Amino acid sequence: MALGAKQRVGTRRSRMIPENQNKALHAWQTSSRYWHKYRGLITEMFAPLTSGLVGEAQIGIGQNVLDIGGGSGEPSLTISRIVGPTGSVMYTDPVAGMLEGAQAEAGRQSLTNIHFRQCSADDLPFADCTFDVAVGRLSAMFFVDPAAAMWEALRVVLKDGCVAFAVWGPKETNPFFSSITDVIDQFLEVPPQDSDAPDAFRFAVRDKLAGILEQADAKNVIEGQLNFRIEAAISFEQFWQLRTEMSETLREKMARLTPAQLPTVKQAVAGAAQKYFVSGTMSFPAEALIVSGRKSAK
Ligand SMILES: C[S@@+](CC[C@H](N)C(=O)[O-])C[C@H]1O[C@@H](n2cnc3c(N)ncnc32)[C@H](O)[C@@H]1O
Repeated sequence: MALGAKQRVGTRRSRMIPENQNKALHAWQTSSRYWHKYRGLITEMFAPLTSGLVGEAQIGIGQNVLDIGGGSGEPSLTISRIVGPTGSVMYTDPVAGMLEGAQAEAGRQSLTNIHFRQCSADDLPFADCTFDVAVGRLSAMFFVDPAAAMWEALRVVLKDGCVAFAVWGPKETNPFFSSITDVIDQFLEVPPQDSDAPDAFRFAVRDKLAGILEQADAKNVIEGQLNFRIEAAISFEQFWQLRTEMSETLREKMARLTPAQLPTVKQAVAGAAQKYFVSGTMSFPAEALIVSGRKSAK
């Protein structure tokens, strides 16, 4: 879609240069094998976010739902069961490896009401007013151009249709992430980060994503705080492996540690995270934001 003048004005500052954009998508392609490896755990650990989106967007039987940045398959796979055979889900992601694995999983689960398109959130290949609802779980923080993506999400939903995104709250309230990064960062020189660059905590600041959605002409914009627990029956060892494999940022940081530093870091993380592992179960407190709005009738 050619972007209108109003959209361009709002998006210039946060646009990634193509080289960085390609690098980011290449990193997601590398990550995709781990996102598929841990799909079962991802579904379990982040299920409360899917429930939050489904509740906020009031997704139900017979609806036609767009999932933007569906990764290894969630929330698409769960929503396809909720909307049932009279409804449908359109899974989208710009990364081939993510899409291929999610499509294979839908086949394994014999889900027939789910369709797949490889595309970026800021350039959706769908006609205006195609979907009842558009959602994105943990993807908006990584959009190349969040302002253009909000316009696009609103463009492709029906008038009064809901768009809803789940993003992480502040790092300090999410020890699932900080219990590792806070330790590693003591061992490495970490350059100051651009707060608008794609990152898990890009929209942790209150009203940041809600403001972008409002600027895209959404009405009834709401930002809800969701506190939940990231839980699964895994040990610290399994958590360490999952986190250090799935995250490009962690893979890159780990590669910069010396062989001597690695066990020291791991031991320090084990100490910091110990209280979240009891009787063979992991349970981290977590905080997310569910940001939603509706397409105005104009
Ligand atoms: C943290 S993962 C979340 C995946 C999945 N929704 C989930 O909750 O498990 C972020 C996803 O955003 C996708 N992504 C990255 N850039 C994107 C863009 N410009 N447009 C849409 N999705 C994008 C990545 O490929 C990745 O699958």
